Amino acid sequence: MTRHVPVLLTELLTALKLSPGMRVVDCTLGDGGHAEKILEKVATSGRLMGIDADPEAVLQAKQYLYNFEGQVIFVRDNFRNLNKIVQENNFAGVDAILIDLGWSSPQFEERGRGFSFQHPEEPLDMRYSGENIGSATDILNTRTEKELATIFADYGEEKLSKKIAEAVVNTRKIKQIKTVGDLVEIILQVYRKKLGVVETHNHASVLEKVPWIGGLHPATKIFQALRIEVNNELVALQDVLPQAVKVLSPGGRLAVISFHSLEDRIVKHFFKKNKEKNILIINKKPIECAEEEYQSNPRARSAKLRVIEKI
Ligand SMILES: C[S@@+](CC[C@H](N)C(=O)[O-])C[C@H]1O[C@@H](n2cnc3c(N)ncnc32)[C@H](O)[C@@H]1O
Repeated sequence: MTRHVPVLLTELLTALKLSPGMRVVDCTLGDGGHAEKILEKVATSGRLMGIDADPEAVLQAKQYLYNFEGQVIFVRDNFRNLNKIVQENNFAGVDAILIDLGWSSPQFEERGRGFSFQHPEEPLDMRYSGENIGSATDILNTRTEKELATIFADYGEEKLSKKIAEAVVNTRKIKQIKTVGDLVEIILQVYRKKLGVVETHNHASVLEKVPWIGGLHPATKIFQALRIEVNNELVALQDVLPQAVKVLSPGGRLAVISFHSLEDRIVKHFFKKNKEKNILIINKKPIECAEEEYQSNPRARSAKLRVIEKI
């Protein structure tokens, strides 16, 4: 089983100014990689509350953090309920908060949720949680062409959003779009047509003929867009930021790691808007990974860390 490699770990631990006895909330527990190192810094009198929407993530993190039994409160919930979660768990007086957005490696690679365009046989689910929300399949098979085009354009910044939405709607008249492979094939068809590539049913040769665009597979942006829509990710982020500032004690720090410009923009604007009120911006420019991490962990390449302190 692969364990998620926490990104910007050293930078994050420094930015949170951790010391023994502190109370920390990790809003995105994942595989507990950040949490484990945070716990080492705040041990043994410190406490960590680890939240994750994914029940499998919480179960897994409990195993990874076994040595810290008694110091961790595990919560299976959406971080957009942060205020309520802190109150319900009597976790007031928070000294530091971490939000490390997006998916973890096991979610992407192993849990069969259809996050990765490289697993054609997986169902297109894309939910972090088992919550009763629509899956990516539901969205693809029920939304109007216009709605799909908007999702692809707004959340994926996909230039061929309209053409891909049209192709989705045309395909589903014939058969339901159920698997990762179904969707990848639709996207590739649109790109092939655009680039004037001759049709072939051999997946490998199709990929050769549809070049990765600026280092990205043609399906990357559509998959990102669907994941954001399924999990209402940008709204969850907008919701959690003011709550995080609210539950922090004065002098406490909030660190957010984002992975694409839509997320980073929300964090940046929120921090800017509130800087005159109750927060101090610690780093004007986002912290990015060092060369060594850049080489060893491809996921870290797009990571941006922003930090504030509550006044
Ligand atoms: C990048 S991973 C975190 C990895 C973790 N920092 C580590 O070191 O292992 C992001 C995690 O956040 C969770 N997540 C994403 N959106 C969430 C939300 N709105 N509420 C709660 N958890 C969320 C995902 O299920 C995933 O496990």
